[in-house]
Amino acid sequence: MPKNYSIIGFARRKWNNLDFSNEMTNRYVKNHQSDSNIKDSAAWQDFMQHVDYLSSDFSNAQGYDLLEAKLNENDKEWGENSEKIFYLAVPPESYDTILINLTNSGLSKICRDNTSKLVIEKPFGHDAKSALALNTQVLKIFSEEQVYRIDHVLGKDPLMDIMSFRKYNYVLKNLLKKEHVDHIQISYTEEIGVADRGEFYERNGVIRDVIQNHILQILSVSTMAVSSDPTINIPLTEKKTIIESLRSISTTEIIAGQYQGYRSEHGVNSSSNTPTFVAIKTSLTSGDFRDVPIYIRAGKFLKQKTAEILFILKNEYPSLVELPNIIAFRIQPQEGVFMNFSKRNNENPDELESISLDFCYHNSNNKIKDAYEKLLLDLLSSQKNAFVHIDEVLASWDFIDPVNRMIEEDKVIKVHSYEKGTMGPIEADELLVRDGRKWYTDKFALACKI
Ligand code: BG6
Repeated sequence: MPKNYSIIGFARRKWNNLDFSNEMTNRYVKNHQSDSNIKDSAAWQDFMQHVDYLSSDFSNAQGYDLLEAKLNENDKEWGENSEKIFYLAVPPESYDTILINLTNSGLSKICRDNTSKLVIEKPFGHDAKSALALNTQVLKIFSEEQVYRIDHVLGKDPLMDIMSFRKYNYVLKNLLKKEHVDHIQISYTEEIGVADRGEFYERNGVIRDVIQNHILQILSVSTMAVSSDPTINIPLTEKKTIIESLRSISTTEIIAGQYQGYRSEHGVNSSSNTPTFVAIKTSLTSGDFRDVPIYIRAGKFLKQKTAEILFILKNEYPSLVELPNIIAFRIQPQEGVFMNFSKRNNENPDELESISLDFCYHNSNNKIKDAYEKLLLDLLSSQKNAFVHIDEVLASWDFIDPVNRMIEEDKVIKVHSYEKGTMGPIEADELLVRDGRKWYTDKFALACKI
């Protein structure tokens, strides 16, 4: 951290500095059990000296004046015009109120200074129209260059490594193309439910919570064209092209589900139709994977937690080879890259057996940083590659809005009930079975476990 810095919490709760720093310490310890002794270290104590708190309702103009005074006071004490970062880690419904107040208060001068930054969490908008309106509000005081839209999957190294696997390895570069890939599967499944976020979830559902952002980011990062530029850390501007080339989907290509008990969650409507699971079939209309079927699924309270993308290769001997070659990039947990092979079974030489080559991050020298740690470091050094551009956000909503309409307005998609601890409604399996395929997540369940 630099010599001069200050972290100012700004929220409704009637806390003082000590309450806020205690809350930060408790949260850190809760989430980093293995590092729980850190709170007694000199470094942590020093860090806490830089933590401040201001209690204000987001709609109260006076609060913004107090914040401005505090920022100016710091600058005066430090003798510099420090860089200011406005980090909106707040419910998305508060974005507008905060931005309007920033625009109308004395803080707008600070926001307009091009060294200032705005950090904003997903979901950015509720649909294309509201995302555009929100962006118009943002652009009244910040330029696109100053805006850092967070999608935390982009902070996950195993995702950001995929392009280097594809680009610098002759075998993968040549194999991962539409000529050889039968289809692609992307899963973002979770074992947990909506926990204490029922109200948020009820408004958004799995499609706005995970598909519009995390899944489309995984899809676009992994299937982007391999550039001829020798730079390793390539700019991710091509993600937009991929998202724009997603084929729109028909009613028979969406399976929605809701876990049993969801309607009794706190903040949830007792007759809710909000999906907590969805499986979708689509494809790309251009690029390296043009017309290759892509199956995506995400959901809560499922059998296993995983975020991964599988490239299933063509199978020349379907009657002999039960498991086709699969190149699997697992982003979490038990991060790794796996590929299975078929070989002659030595015990029964007339049969084949399946074996697998596994690369496990935890067995290598690769230490995976926490996604937020990486993104915050990028933010501090103004590296924008792992943040989302407004054009991608709008392209994502253009793909997602018709899906939500089919479920929410037209009600032509049934939301099936599913049992907790399963992999969602059985209809999600049928989505593949009718194409002569099946989900393969289970095949690598044990990979990198030890
Ligand atoms: C968040 C979603 O963006 O990602 C949550 O809002 C979800 O619903 C979470 O649980 C999952 O994050 P991770 O890092 O565990 O995959």
